Amino acid sequence: MQIRPRRLRRTPALRALVREHHVRTDALVQPLFVVERASDAGPISSMPGISRFTVDGAVNEARELFALGVRSVLLFGIPASKDAVASSNEDPNGVVQRAIRAIKAALPDMLVIADLCNCEYTDHGHCGILNERGDVENDATVALLARVAITYAQAGVDVIAPSDMMDGRVEAIRCALDAHGFTEIAILAYSAKYASAFYGPFREAAGSTPQFGDRRTYQMDPPNAREALREMALDVEEGADAIMVKPGLPYLDIVRIARDTFEVPIAVYNVSGEYSMLQAAIANGWIEGDRAIDELLAGFVRAGADIIITYFAKEYARRHGAR
Ligand code: PBG
Repeated sequence: MQIRPRRLRRTPALRALVREHHVRTDALVQPLFVVERASDAGPISSMPGISRFTVDGAVNEARELFALGVRSVLLFGIPASKDAVASSNEDPNGVVQRAIRAIKAALPDMLVIADLCNCEYTDHGHCGILNERGDVENDATVALLARVAITYAQAGVDVIAPSDMMDGRVEAIRCALDAHGFTEIAILAYSAKYASAFYGPFREAAGSTPQFGDRRTYQMDPPNAREALREMALDVEEGADAIMVKPGLPYLDIVRIARDTFEVPIAVYNVSGEYSMLQAAIANGWIEGDRAIDELLAGFVRAGADIIITYFAKEYARRHGAR
């Protein structure tokens, strides 16, 4: 007698029968870049297939996504004006606040998640308020984030996703939301966010490249894993409803550890650089696009991700529908 695992791979129906993991379209989140100035709208050269939208354009895009079965979007704002203290991020009529209102008015059932950070709103491109040493001042930045979160909540956001990596921000945001009566708004914390080269195309898309230095004093050092557990545990203790690992591909071990350690939903962010490197290979004919994208997303599910934030969400839904 010989054990023959190949028996269960013989036909498509058999393979489907024993398939262990499935990518669900309703677990995908499509990031959307929303611009305040119409002249900033249009395709992003380093991210083929992805565009920046005006608020009206974002509503149309959200409508298309929803019809295809993608039920969640993650908003990033690109404001018309920047300053040292990210004032345009606190504006109740700022670009993200207006986009939240417009999308929720047009599509009440679309889940609207707002990325909460300051790097798109500061003229220096760092994620918060700088001190005299040119480093981001933690507690002043946390206070600013909590104020901004209230304006997103007032606009009708469903989920707030802080991506700044300041210490103590989840608790501060939770307390501020609760104090203003927004007890039902969830926090999806970018908990294990690494100082990654894979954010390159995003920074072009969002105009958020630091004008000096880098983000290594607040984002995590790529070789660290125990520290990711510590960051995630802190965010859960501080009241995060779900936690995130970012980037995705180089950090699938962290996704697995997160899934095995915590009870809250685990999100993974398949970031801009991961998107662009695959698109570049597809454009060159070096790799078969549809199969590679499906395999990539299946890998995130297999690693333990419950929520996948990916620029491929629309493309996946177009091919597979709402399943
Ligand atoms: C804001 C933020 C970034 C990304 C998400 N939120 C950029 C950064 O930290 O520099 C990256 C997303 C991507 O690369 O797709 N802080």
